[in-house]
Amino acid sequence: MENSKRTVTCGELTKADVGKKVVLNGWVSRTRDLGGLVFIRLRDRYGITQVMVGDNASDEVKKIASSLKSEYCIAVEGTVAARADKDVNKDMATGEIEVEAADIEIFTASQELPFSIEEVRQKDGTVVVPNEDLRLKYRYLDLRRDPMQHNIILRSQVAFATREYLTSKGFLEIETPTFIKSTPEGARDYLVPSRVHPGKFYSLPQSPQLYKQLLMVSGFDKYFQIARCYRDEDARGDRQPEFTQIDMELSFTNREEVLSTTEGMMAHIFKKTLNYELPVKFDRIAWEDAFDWYGSDKPDLRFDLKMQDATFMADLADFNAFKAGASNAGRDVQRHKRSGLKALVVKNVADKYSRKQVEALEAVAKTYKAKGLAWMKVNQEGVFEGGISKFYTGKEAEICSKLGAEKNDLLLFVSDENWQLACTALGAVRKQLGKDLNLYNPNDEFHFAWIIDFPYFAWNEEENHWETEHHMFTLPQKQYWDTLESDPGAVKGDLYDLVLNGYELASGSMRINDPALQQRIFKIVGYSNERAEKAFGFLVQAFKFGAPPHGGIAPGLDRLVMLMCHEESIHEVIAFPKNNLAMSPMDECPSYIDDAQLEELHIRCVEKE
Ligand code: AMO
Repeated sequence: MENSKRTVTCGELTKADVGKKVVLNGWVSRTRDLGGLVFIRLRDRYGITQVMVGDNASDEVKKIASSLKSEYCIAVEGTVAARADKDVNKDMATGEIEVEAADIEIFTASQELPFSIEEVRQKDGTVVVPNEDLRLKYRYLDLRRDPMQHNIILRSQVAFATREYLTSKGFLEIETPTFIKSTPEGARDYLVPSRVHPGKFYSLPQSPQLYKQLLMVSGFDKYFQIARCYRDEDARGDRQPEFTQIDMELSFTNREEVLSTTEGMMAHIFKKTLNYELPVKFDRIAWEDAFDWYGSDKPDLRFDLKMQDATFMADLADFNAFKAGASNAGRDVQRHKRSGLKALVVKNVADKYSRKQVEALEAVAKTYKAKGLAWMKVNQEGVFEGGISKFYTGKEAEICSKLGAEKNDLLLFVSDENWQLACTALGAVRKQLGKDLNLYNPNDEFHFAWIIDFPYFAWNEEENHWETEHHMFTLPQKQYWDTLESDPGAVKGDLYDLVLNGYELASGSMRINDPALQQRIFKIVGYSNERAEKAFGFLVQAFKFGAPPHGGIAPGLDRLVMLMCHEESIHEVIAFPKNNLAMSPMDECPSYIDDAQLEELHIRCVEKE
């Protein structure tokens, strides 16, 4: 072939191109050899084009075509031809044409593959996904698979739309260092030893938090960065040791501006990349309500199914388990006024739920430390039946009217002295019911909401001290400034989380810019002046030079794209992720290093895996 560089991609030819001479480059997805006729599905990232090797081809070309195997990388020169009506494939962008090959060049052959790049379906229609470690070992091949191509392309589009929106609103994209001083920020740091300074370490940033605040002191009043962050914490489906944030910070701002900028950015991203319209404003739910109604500070709001307060039921019967939950309101460290006797009314399913199925729900509640899941049904006559019904027979009218229950409803209860525990456990049951009863469409709904009014401090039971719920630079809400020390548990923070479909997508806050207030927070969380100075001295120092009021937020890019792709793990939207042991099976990272390298870094290992 004289010039094997492609003139078109595999995704663009239509009937309008019939008669054109073209060169295609790509991978052989599949071949069908019908004797004198060979069909090749040729693939690149833009699509698939059918190549036909027939009468127009020389014997030499026919021979090459017959020798092709899956994933050979080739060039095809030929002429675009219309397919016969009966052969038109409406599901394919290029389904009306094929390319009649005049010449084929094999760039490179391919070994037998560890798994199929083409989708493989079982008899029942379910897609077979190769084993995860195998996928990660051959990630470069895994990325050739159609769903991965889709996800990575969408990720790129989301990053572009993010830049487009924020730049249009006057934000500057500024990079901050990834070798920083190790500062306590929640998770463990990843450390990089210094060769030049024996015994000293750089740390990889858990987020650009401190630097973005310093940029505010420098006068760059609207900053953003698509920033890589590093945290040494246990892996989960929505957590990676290295991940990416859309990090933002604004000066001379307030909560409203941060929230509306984020709403505008999300609306732009969803419109541009998925053509999906988000509401102009997202719902706002106070943290305490989020727990009380949905049992989580990251509720899935695609379905309603709100939990209810069932405190009144403790007085209606001599049922001790309920008395405990109802009696404890207001006694925990955060002064929650709500009781730990919570109910869920599941509509019109009583006849469908067997005792066994209710037991499966109880198992869910118990994984969240509930002592049990009490239940009863309202039967077709409107009478309580099963479970704890014997305690409440005769009380149907009052209970059903207060809880809004009707015939054929299933009533579920968790009671615990600890309000938050009761809510969390019943909330997990709610989540399970959402899935079991198909209360939402997993492929077509995005329900964003803000969670606001978080408690500022959380009590660390194990270490017996207060710590901050978000980070230490968050501003406590002003009405609590006088009582920070005297009643830390009651303090609420000027912080906000953005949640989407049951995930925490972003966290942010208004920040402290007054060094004196910052010192008070350090003190309450048990940081001595010395320790605070050592860890954050440079920030406190910077704030002495006219620090503007500021605040910001950081949506996780991986989680955002994961949800937009309807995936359940961020592995599916990161080109080269680590597995759940924080390793990469492909390049075997982390790995041992040479003694000489260690020596140079002034490091001796005392233990090896
Ligand atoms: P936070 O620690 O809540 O806040 O992180 C913000 C968002 O980053 C994402 N995220 C992660 N994604 C994948 N893997 C992880 N290990 C991981 N950890 C966090 C989540 C999360 O909501 N500096 C503050 C933000 C601020 O106050 O402006 C911060 O980092 O989507």
